Amino acid sequence: MKNTTWTFRQAKAEGKKLTMLTAYDYTMAKLMDQSGINGILIGDSLGMVVKGEPDTLSVTMEEMIYHTRAVKRGAGNALVVSDMPFMSYQVSVEQAVENAGRLVKEGGANAVKLEGGRIILPQIRAIVAAQIPVMGHLGLTPQSVNAFGGFKVQGKSEEAIRQLLDDAAALEEAGVFSIVLEGIPEKVAELITRKVAIPTIGIGAGKACDGQILVYQDMLGLFQDFVPKFVRQYANIGSIIVEAIGTYIHEVETGQFPAAEHTYRISEQLLEKLY
Ligand code: KIV
Repeated sequence: MKNTTWTFRQAKAEGKKLTMLTAYDYTMAKLMDQSGINGILIGDSLGMVVKGEPDTLSVTMEEMIYHTRAVKRGAGNALVVSDMPFMSYQVSVEQAVENAGRLVKEGGANAVKLEGGRIILPQIRAIVAAQIPVMGHLGLTPQSVNAFGGFKVQGKSEEAIRQLLDDAAALEEAGVFSIVLEGIPEKVAELITRKVAIPTIGIGAGKACDGQILVYQDMLGLFQDFVPKFVRQYANIGSIIVEAIGTYIHEVETGQFPAAEHTYRISEQLLEKLY
């Protein structure tokens, strides 16, 4: 079944959990779609897991469009959500609408995601008014890493929790179809999830959320720099790859690869003429 922003809302109403993963290319998007994932996020986490940067801040609109197009081609039934990168929506409402439009027109995204609460409400309202579905993102929003003084769990004091609750209510009122809750205590995510009628998608926010999202390199054991506390590794593809490449190197070095079945041939008669 095709996933849409409408089926996302419907899932919450029916108490059905939603599943999302990040992807950045066609091959992975196609595999995820085959598995039956509800949504694929082209996350600006690509700054870290694809580009090898220490944070997401360097990611550009051009990079987001490029990766969104690739994912879109592989995502048959999954809802395709594209991140608006740092400084693509903060400067002005006009800039935000124009860039959201590019992710849809040039990248093929079904929806866009912006980090932040009431501070970016004018941008969210304008994008929604342009008929582009918006996913919100609250809590440990990675584009605020410098303002937070690091990747720190958010929503721990009463004031911070009240801010999060007010932000979530404001985002819902502005028309977002869903909210990512990242890096906040489980009970805070549960409170928010109860208070809004739109689905919450958690990452490091406990199991009360209406759905979950993970960065695929984390959950498949591909990204080996560090494993965040909130990640479960469902496979260790990283070691499978290292082992397979080791075997390839050995077989090339010892003449076992390529073998006869991997080789194109010409007839013996033709060969004799050439000598
Ligand atoms: O950029 C990203 O991958 C994200 C998810 C972690 C929610 O925003």
